[in-house]
Amino acid sequence: MKNYLTLVLLIWLFGCTDNESHEHPAFKTGKELFAHHCQGCHGERGQGNFLKGVPANVKTQKTQLELIAWLKNSEQIPRAMPSFEAMTDAEAVLIIEHLNYLKFNYQTAMEKRLNNDGVHH
Ligand code: HEC
Repeated sequence: MKNYLTLVLLIWLFGCTDNESHEHPAFKTGKELFAHHCQGCHGERGQGNFLKGVPANVKTQKTQLELIAWLKNSEQIPRAMPSFEAMTDAEAVLIIEHLNYLKFNYQTAMEKRLNNDGVHH
């Protein structure tokens, strides 16, 4: 009986864990994952930090596949940015989706600025 209860408890504890969230189950959406892994350096809007030498990641020209490889740094290129080797592709995709959203916001803000500059009163 005792073993049975232990088994039920173990299934309850581990049976519904989600591989995609690996060591941080509290963070699930791209926004949450970005806040957890990236925001400290790149900022909430992906604007980067000039003084700390962190580029605006909203300006990246990399494709989705290149970004996944970049995050995991599978080629072990020495660099200032940490390598997220244990990150699943699914998690990387969520983060990149959020990055695309930030890119969209950044680009529309730039366009607005350009349009406003074009208006002369
Ligand atoms: C410790 C600070 C730090 C963290 C955390 C960090 N980055 Fe970076 N990131 C950098 C630095 C510094 C660079 C510039 C390249 C270098 O020197 O490594 C960079 C470069 C980049 C680039 C530009 C690549 C290119 O050449 O176009 C992208 C995109 C990027 N980071 C995305 C992310 C994402 C997404 C996360 C979170 C999963 C993240 N970074 C977490 C510091 C960081």
